[in-house]
Order: sequence, then C-alpha cells, then structure tokens
Amino acid sequence: MERIFTGLQPSGTLHIGNYFGALKPAIDMLKSHDGMLMVADYHALTTLKDSGNLRQNIIDATKDYLAAGLDTRKTIVFQQSQVPEHTELTWIFECLVTVPFLELSHAYKDKLAKGLEANAGLFNYPMLMAADILLYDTDIVPVGADQRQHVEYAREAAAKFNNTFGETFKEPKERINEDVATLPGTDGKKMSKSYKNTIPLFGTKDDIAKAVMSIVTDSSGESPENVYAIHQHFRDRQSLGELYKANKGKYKALKDALIEDIEALISPMRQVRDAISDADVIRVLNEGSAKARERAAAKMADVRRHVGVLL
Ligand code: ADP
Ligand code: TRP
Repeated sequence: MERIFTGLQPSGTLHIGNYFGALKPAIDMLKSHDGMLMVADYHALTTLKDSGNLRQNIIDATKDYLAAGLDTRKTIVFQQSQVPEHTELTWIFECLVTVPFLELSHAYKDKLAKGLEANAGLFNYPMLMAADILLYDTDIVPVGADQRQHVEYAREAAAKFNNTFGETFKEPKERINEDVATLPGTDGKKMSKSYKNTIPLFGTKDDIAKAVMSIVTDSSGESPENVYAIHQHFRDRQSLGELYKANKGKYKALKDALIEDIEALISPMRQVRDAISDADVIRVLNEGSAKARERAAAKMADVRRHVGVLL
C-alpha cells in the first residue's frame, strides 16, 4: 500500500478555501491509505516568534483537522518538534545540498519579497520538509500547488543522498488536487487570510452570516457572480441552477440560502470541535509522536550507518 505523508503549518484561523483546497482532499485520501499527518511547528517557528501564539496554533490546527473528519485510528497525527530525528536528518541534507540550490526556492524568495527577515531557518526550510517526508519512506505527499517545489526538493535530497551514500531513501511524489478550484473570497479575489476576505471555517453562524452578507454583489445581471462562485462548492450544479433561476435578482435570498448551506456543512464539524478539549489534543499528539518517533529512529539508524557515523 502506498504511504501518504502530509504536513500543515499551524498558522492561524482557517477559512473555507483552506477546507476545500487542503483539509478535505488530504483527509479523504488518508481515509483509504496508511498515512501520517504532521503539525509542522518547527516550520512555523521560521516566521512565528510568540510562544503563546505558537502553542495555541498547534492546538487549534490539530483540533481543526480532527473536527474536519481525520480518523486517528487510521492516521498517525504527530508534532514535528517531538521527533528530533527530523532536525537531525535536516543537518545531513544541509551538508549535501548547495546554497545556490536552496536560493532557487520560490517560497523563500516570496517571503523575502513580503519583507520577512531572511533568517537561516527560512532559507533551510525545504531541507526540513525533505526530512519530514523522507524519514517515513513516503510515496505520496498530498499538498496544495504552492508546495510543489518543496516536494521536488525532497526528491532531489533523496537522490543526492542515495548517490553519495548508497540507496536509502524513496523518491516521493506530490499529489496536487487539480480539480479543486480556488475559492474566491468575499471581494471576488482568491480567498486568503492575507486579504481579509474570508469566510471562517469554524466561525459561529453569525460570523458566517456577516461574511456572506459582505460578499460584493455589484456585478451586472440577475445572478450575483461572487455568491454563486462560492455557492457551487456547497450544492450540485442542478439544484444550484434551480435555486438561482427561482431567485433571479434576489441577492438577499440567495445570500440567505448560501448561509444555510455553509451552516449545514459546518455546524456538525463545529459541534465535534467544541467537544475536543486541549487535553484531548495533547494526548493525540503525544501518542502519535511516540509512534512516529519509533519509525523515525529506525530509519535514522540506517541513515547514520550509511553516512559512516554509526561506529
Ligand atoms: P492563505 O492564502 O489563506 O494564507 P495558505 O497559503 O495558508 O492560505 O494555504 C493553506 C492551504 O490551503 C494550501 O494548500 C492552499 O492551496 C489552500 N488554499 C488556500 N486558499 C485557498 C482558496 N482560496 N481556495 C482553495 N484552496 C486554498
Ligand atoms: N510546508 C507545508 C505548508 O506550508 C507544510 C509541511 C511541512 C509539509 N512539512 C511537510 C507538507 C511535509 C507536506 C509534507 O503547507
């Protein structure tokens, strides 16, 4: 069976774009495969330096995935920082790849362009991610399109190591769900936390209503394009067509219908989320991390032997 590995950066409140673009495809895939989901807290440390925030984000992000349907009996859910083999293997990869090779990273260049400080962790980010993936003999990495180059880096790190020290790592493949269209936000641009145009995934019904009511509807014609573009993710084409035909020009009625449809998806997940305590999350992460660590330690013993440091 193919092995699936994916990771998420614990970086704040999720929106429905994240749900359809990242959480749902990964969770669906993990239902039918042997897999691992890692909370990439050391990756988050490259940009987040507030300990209280980081701690809360780790808990919140894990809750989000559990509430969205991740099954911990099937999937190992764990915390990157609890498995020190990740940073250990990163070092070995750092000694194999060159600075110009890492300088090609789009994510690094984008972050610098946004004015983030060029700390060395940010620069080395792809090798930590390569270690995450390669430690577990991963076949497939489900990720968003923005992570494609990072999985290429992982393949390169595996090949470089295998060429230098002998066959040790599998070369993984990314799985990018191309059918998931980018959800637009309330202003019609890509929904993104950086644009403040989001509909929150785990907001209250009032939060959802407020966001939906703020969808810009100054488009011409009888159907509010921006409302429709979001709505199509919540209903099949036929029933949506009938709804919009029956409510031509009635923007308020269509927005009300969208609020109800979003609420119907989110309300059961919100209830599950509310029932998960911080202690539950810590237990899940501790148990998952112990299992991950066992696998990682076995792999690292092999790696150390290949490198020549195991005496
Ligand atoms: P944001 O743009 O809000 O900062 P991130 O960059 O943190 O979102 O994205 C996390 C994941 O969610 C990525 O896999 C990305 O592909 C997915 N994602 C983000 N925004 C959308 C969107 N509007 N539609 C579909 N998927 C999205
Ligand atoms: N860099 C990924 C992101 O920002 C998170 C991540 C860290 C990851 N390690 C990973 C994803 C390993 C897949 C596999 O979304």
